[in-house]
Amino acid sequence: MKASLFIFLSALASLNGLFAQQPAQPPTDDNSRNAFIRELLSRMTLEEKVGQMNQYNGFWDVTGPVPENGDAERKYEDLRNGRVGSMLNITNTADTRRLQEIVVNESRLGIPLLFGQDVIHGLKTTSPIPLAEAASWDLEAIRNSARLAAREAAASGIHWTFAPMVDISRDPRWGRVMEGAGEDPYLGSLVGAARVRGFQGDDLSDPLTIAACLKHFAGYGFAEGGRDYNTADFGLSTLYNVVLPPFKAGVEAGAATVMNSFNVLNGIPATADRFLQRDILKGAWGFDGFVVSDWGSIGELIPHGYAADRNEAAQQAILAGSDMDMESGMYLSELPSLVRSGKVPEALVDEAVLRILGLKYDLGLFEDPFRYSDAEREKQVLADPSRLETVRDMARKSIVLLKNEGNLLPLSKDGLSIGLIGPLAGDTDSPLGSWRLTSDPNSAVSVAQGLAAYTGNRVAYEQGVPLVEGETAFVFETKINTTDRSGIPTAVALARESDVVVLVLGEHGFQSGEGRSRTDLGLPGLQQELLEAVYAVNRNVVLVLMNGRPLTINWAAENVPAIVEAWHLGTESGNAIAEVLYGDYNPSGKLPMTFPKSVGQIPLYYSHLSTGRPEYPGDNLVFWSHYMDQDNGPLFAFGHGLSYSDFAYSDLRLSTPELSGTGSLEIRVRLENKSTVGGTEIAQLYVRDHFGSRARPVRELKGFQKVYLEGGASREITFTLTAEDLAYYTANNRWEAEDGQFSVFVGGSSQADLKADFSLKQ
Ligand code: NOJ
Repeated sequence: MKASLFIFLSALASLNGLFAQQPAQPPTDDNSRNAFIRELLSRMTLEEKVGQMNQYNGFWDVTGPVPENGDAERKYEDLRNGRVGSMLNITNTADTRRLQEIVVNESRLGIPLLFGQDVIHGLKTTSPIPLAEAASWDLEAIRNSARLAAREAAASGIHWTFAPMVDISRDPRWGRVMEGAGEDPYLGSLVGAARVRGFQGDDLSDPLTIAACLKHFAGYGFAEGGRDYNTADFGLSTLYNVVLPPFKAGVEAGAATVMNSFNVLNGIPATADRFLQRDILKGAWGFDGFVVSDWGSIGELIPHGYAADRNEAAQQAILAGSDMDMESGMYLSELPSLVRSGKVPEALVDEAVLRILGLKYDLGLFEDPFRYSDAEREKQVLADPSRLETVRDMARKSIVLLKNEGNLLPLSKDGLSIGLIGPLAGDTDSPLGSWRLTSDPNSAVSVAQGLAAYTGNRVAYEQGVPLVEGETAFVFETKINTTDRSGIPTAVALARESDVVVLVLGEHGFQSGEGRSRTDLGLPGLQQELLEAVYAVNRNVVLVLMNGRPLTINWAAENVPAIVEAWHLGTESGNAIAEVLYGDYNPSGKLPMTFPKSVGQIPLYYSHLSTGRPEYPGDNLVFWSHYMDQDNGPLFAFGHGLSYSDFAYSDLRLSTPELSGTGSLEIRVRLENKSTVGGTEIAQLYVRDHFGSRARPVRELKGFQKVYLEGGASREITFTLTAEDLAYYTANNRWEAEDGQFSVFVGGSSQADLKADFSLKQ
């Protein structure tokens, strides 16, 4: 139904009483927004209010366990009766329009549905996984990538994405690290805010923008043992200094919604945590959007052992501030009686409904419930030729050159014979990553295709070993091949006759993401065996890694001369990788998450505390913080990433040795490109606060700059710090800076050794 027709029908309805309760057309200024939604609320029955707080999954795809009573017939009936406020996993204009028509035309008040979807790294056109995007440290590219995802989603009838995930995580066993920005709250805050801005644009009512959702509030990235859905347990210092900052930054960037999380935190399931949702989010931060539960998480209060039954689960969740129930059905069945019996004040229901109606208003759905469901626009946007360049740009910027000994890379274009080997080299599906529910299977450019298109020649390719057995899917376990070695001899023969071998190994796209925790972070299946067999006959190996998390690739790091971290880069994978391998794009990415040497070191992160015994005391004494069988250091540090250029830092100078409370400190450093090749360096600034009312991390990222330098060029770059940049959640339980001694470190990774000292005196 077009806007004009809807307006006409509404007007008609108010005349003839047919839809006597249809909402009036909303006026446009802000006060009238609130007046409009309040007036609408005043006409709603309790059941209709609760209906707005109920979100159902669609009828086809699922992204979680199917609940009891999840049958289609019941859902249609509830749609007609105003018992549904939102749906997820309805992903095209035809279906969103059809369901919207039911609700608008057949329910008593005709309040439009809100359609949500996990648009995590693209809708049809797939961007790199978010962890890879974070490796670009390129906020503009990240914003553009989110903007493209929003355009495609909005044009497909979707109003709202469940992204960005801003969970900080220090545990690569947790498969969902692929969905976040890594381990650092400073980088994570900037990336999260950029993604919110990309999805939402400046105007939510623009039919090519969608509402964002910060998730998972809070602590999900700290699941014990890296096992998904597991318990988290950490104190206020970690909560305020590490976990919350990206959420706060996302709220400040205007995120319309927040999703709570599955985990228990300090004994309380986050979905029922008043301190998190009411005191911090809606209270201290003044968040005025709404909170959606995670899938079924209100119902999960029962198996958590926090609620005795459905009634108590619904009660706990609403008292804590969860406004919308995703797919557990608890609000729908329990809230009306909870309100009638006085166990839940109706004012809390009203508050939740106003928040939800507010977003519907901001999206322009009361003006035209069908504004996003335009089949013509859908066709145009999904075929827009510029979309491929956007994701290719993001893909090249996400690649991290981990190692390049003997300058094996970039590959020469003159007559070099290349043997392409590995199960992921010919794969057009895995590079799409984990959250690509709506992109077409096998729609990525493989490395084989990318290299062939690049050189104009067919590249000799051998799979070596299959990575998986059987079908793969988002909802099912992926079975890894551990028996079929039959292709190794032909792969070795190809390696023997090639000048250079490009080996593409790593994780299948469905080996990371939700429900994909691992205890072994080596190359899965028989890939290590393949790697060693190939290396035994040809040492000129370029290892291209495709993976959704840091891996423990110690053998490769020690032996293989060149390693390229290519993550799961999305639709344009093979093209972006070919550009980097041939040097037409000089890699500039830096790791947003530490690569450990072994699972036993986890959690391993650069901004750890010092401990009281940080250093080897000598004389073979054991009394210091270490392992007997492994050193404490990372395999590849946070912030690490090489380039075909050779960057050097020198002349670190501070504008003052003493920073005052109102002043600023300028940190100047000379960056030189000592090679003949132009390239981009991500210069990083770290701070150490030597003493505090709480023990402080050995380093914290406080700034970075992406700097392009021609070969042979050099430039002075400047960072600025103020007292506010040194603030943290102190033992006074306040966000404040404390006077004392600090050091800055500037360089190309978290291991930067150029150092200068200053003090803060406020
Ligand atoms: C569960 C996941 O934890 C969440 O991130 C996602 O948005 C929902 N399922 C919906 O699919």
